[in-house]
Amino acid sequence: LDNGVARTPPMGWNSWNTFGCNISETLIKQMADAIVSSGLRDLGYQYVVVDDCWFNPTRDSAGNLQGNPSRFPSGMKALGDYLHAKGLKFGIYQVPVDKTCAQYFGSYPGATGSQGHETQDARQFAAWGVDYLKYDWCSPSGTIDDQVRTFAKMRDALAATGRPIVYSINPNSIHAKTGPQRNWGDVANMWRTTEDITNKWDTGQTNGYPMGIQNIVNVTVPLASYAKPGAFNDPDMMEVGRGGMTDTEMRSHFALWAMMASPLIAGNDLRSMDTATQTILKNPNLIAINQDPLGLQARQISNDGTRRVLAKKLGNGDVAVALFNQGGSTTTISTTASAIGMSGGSFILRDAWTNTLSGTNGTISASVPAHGTVVYRVSGDTTPSPSPTPPQSPTPSPSP
Ligand code: DGJ
Repeated sequence: LDNGVARTPPMGWNSWNTFGCNISETLIKQMADAIVSSGLRDLGYQYVVVDDCWFNPTRDSAGNLQGNPSRFPSGMKALGDYLHAKGLKFGIYQVPVDKTCAQYFGSYPGATGSQGHETQDARQFAAWGVDYLKYDWCSPSGTIDDQVRTFAKMRDALAATGRPIVYSINPNSIHAKTGPQRNWGDVANMWRTTEDITNKWDTGQTNGYPMGIQNIVNVTVPLASYAKPGAFNDPDMMEVGRGGMTDTEMRSHFALWAMMASPLIAGNDLRSMDTATQTILKNPNLIAINQDPLGLQARQISNDGTRRVLAKKLGNGDVAVALFNQGGSTTTISTTASAIGMSGGSFILRDAWTNTLSGTNGTISASVPAHGTVVYRVSGDTTPSPSPTPPQSPTPSPSP
């Protein structure tokens, strides 16, 4: 969507994966403090997104949405001000149908969706200082045409406010599964490609609930041609740092999201991150690959069912290549510079995880552990691209 925002994939944090409906002003402020003190903000993580369950179960007498006064006693505008004062941006959740998911499933009272209130609600969000709207189709019914019409209504209502607001849509809730069937780049800045993620490597789903990392990759890789500045496939918020996977799998998860030009929205508790989690979320080489100005999603170069090779063209002429092992044991994965679209006789590889350099005259190869992903940034001459920022040793987590 050409609305001036999300020229590279949005980065930030969202409350849902860890906290679900258990959110409050205090919690969101603590998370904002942690995003700053952990150094994540300065690496680009700027959107703090308050997901479902922030609202009062009813509108006010003028039909306006209101924050839940016991959870957000200072009000939503004050929360936006708090985030902005920290150099962060404010994201909020709403649905285009009558009930949010939590209302639909009965875990939160009311029916406060934006249907029929699009203009009023968009104005309300803008007045609160909202910079990012997650708009979640939470209904078992509706065709793709219904979805397009309805999502476009809010797109236009947001545009009419004059405030730049990232528009993030989910056409997939409650198994409507229409996400991958359409290129939503004319409607939104980012669109979910599957049902909800969970903190497991593989749930055996092709596009049902819940999706593991491997399952989401399978759905999202073929959609590479849709990605461009302002418009990105969204394979969902990250499960890095939430347990349920090995460190190798979590590194793969982050590396593949970076390669797929996916929004990097952390979903873990930022107040208590271990060293492994911080090392992953802060990897400067992978963040630079993800945030490359061309905004391209990695194309698949090869896939033999076990060994999978993806390549992402970068703005300075480099190419990022991922060697992804889907299998259950260590294997060598190889490709060549010409297969990833580079010409010339000698190349320099920067390993995104170790930050070490090596030379090659064409073969790109690594031994990759089960479910692991090795990423190289390949430069085509004898001068390697500089490291985006010096590799950092993770800072200890602030105590909660
Ligand atoms: C379904 C979405 O896919 C989730 O990310 C989350 O927003 C929940 N709805 C909230 O109810």
